[in-house]
Amino acid sequence: MFDPSILKRFQGLDTPFYYYDMALLDKTLNVCKSAADKYGFHVHYAFKANFDQRVLQAIQTVGFGADCVSGNEVRKAIEIGFDPEKVVFAGVGKSDKEIIEALNKNIYCFNVESVQELGVINALAAKLGKTARVAIRINPNVDAHTHHYITTGLEENKFGVNQWELKACIEELKRSENLKLIGIHFHIGSQITKLEIFRSLCVKANELSHWFEDHGFQLQILNVGGGLGVDYHNPDAAAVNDFASYFEVFDKFLERKPGQQVHFELGRALVAQCGNLISRILYVKNGLKKNFIILDAGMTELMRPALYQAYHKIENMSAGTSADKLKYDVVGPICESTDWLGKEVELPVSKRGDLVILRTAGAYGQVMASGYNLRDIVRSEYSEV
Ligand code: LLP
Repeated sequence: MFDPSILKRFQGLDTPFYYYDMALLDKTLNVCKSAADKYGFHVHYAFKANFDQRVLQAIQTVGFGADCVSGNEVRKAIEIGFDPEKVVFAGVGKSDKEIIEALNKNIYCFNVESVQELGVINALAAKLGKTARVAIRINPNVDAHTHHYITTGLEENKFGVNQWELKACIEELKRSENLKLIGIHFHIGSQITKLEIFRSLCVKANELSHWFEDHGFQLQILNVGGGLGVDYHNPDAAAVNDFASYFEVFDKFLERKPGQQVHFELGRALVAQCGNLISRILYVKNGLKKNFIILDAGMTELMRPALYQAYHKIENMSAGTSADKLKYDVVGPICESTDWLGKEVELPVSKRGDLVILRTAGAYGQVMASGYNLRDIVRSEYSEV
């Protein structure tokens, strides 16, 4: 299934590294863009999913905006060429320094996560003689039915303003001469695979946008966040998400006033499938109860299994289609028992030196890499296209 020329190229490279299929990335971006354009929807790419330079350039070229969660992401977005008018800045803990920098860069909007933050942004904007555009991130209490570590829209989560605090927000906004409320924002979680969940979000968003209108606020934008999940089990069959069905849910169920814009903040669905982690087998240990493959990549390169018990499809690229198979626990070299990448993975009988590919690793893979154990930070390689 692998192009033999790729295997040859990989054999000559030092491992581990992330390998990006740039043709697949372009295809994914174009499918998403045309599906969104059909309804006039605006997509902001969630930088946190992957901030590789070439990946970002490809995304900027398609014309998406940027959803940032740190001052460095805001700066990077503008350096790469994203229009500041298409940059939004979210996060529960924006520092004064980050807010000032974003104000100076005249970004499109701050997604504000607390009443206190409204006061801080207003005071800093006043000092700079600016007006900050803000959207209130509301915690809609909609369950995303995803891993509890990546659920964000429940009242017990730290994110956003709870509904009982909205009155206080409005009062703060009325007092704040240097803020302009332009919209409301939601993000209920990540790796959401059931479209009905987005339908529930629309129902809640409709209710809340009426509430703001009833209180005399005209909202220019409804930002429904990101969260669209990908198929980790079938990276080839489901290489590109069904963006058409996803956007259709919002077109059907999200009520819009004339001229009101709908914004999305997609991360994973845009970049997950184009990225793969390539690693080499260092050792194979055949035990009585278990066989282990010890790779030269571990939780320092791909933390998702250790942190969320996440599944990534693992294939032995060198072993071809050999019929002899064994079950292996695929682990890394880090001195931690949580340093595993796959459990009970059925693979062709494997040996030292074989190249292994971990699929669907383009989102929250390389960006979450660390230098723990004083390891090198994992680098990128790209397909030719
Ligand atoms: N907007 C906001 C406000 C967010 O917090 C996130 C992700 C997104 C958009 C993009 O969500 P996406 O479309 O990628 O689901 N490290 C975890 C995922 C953390 C997601 C954090 N927020 C993982 O590896 O699964």
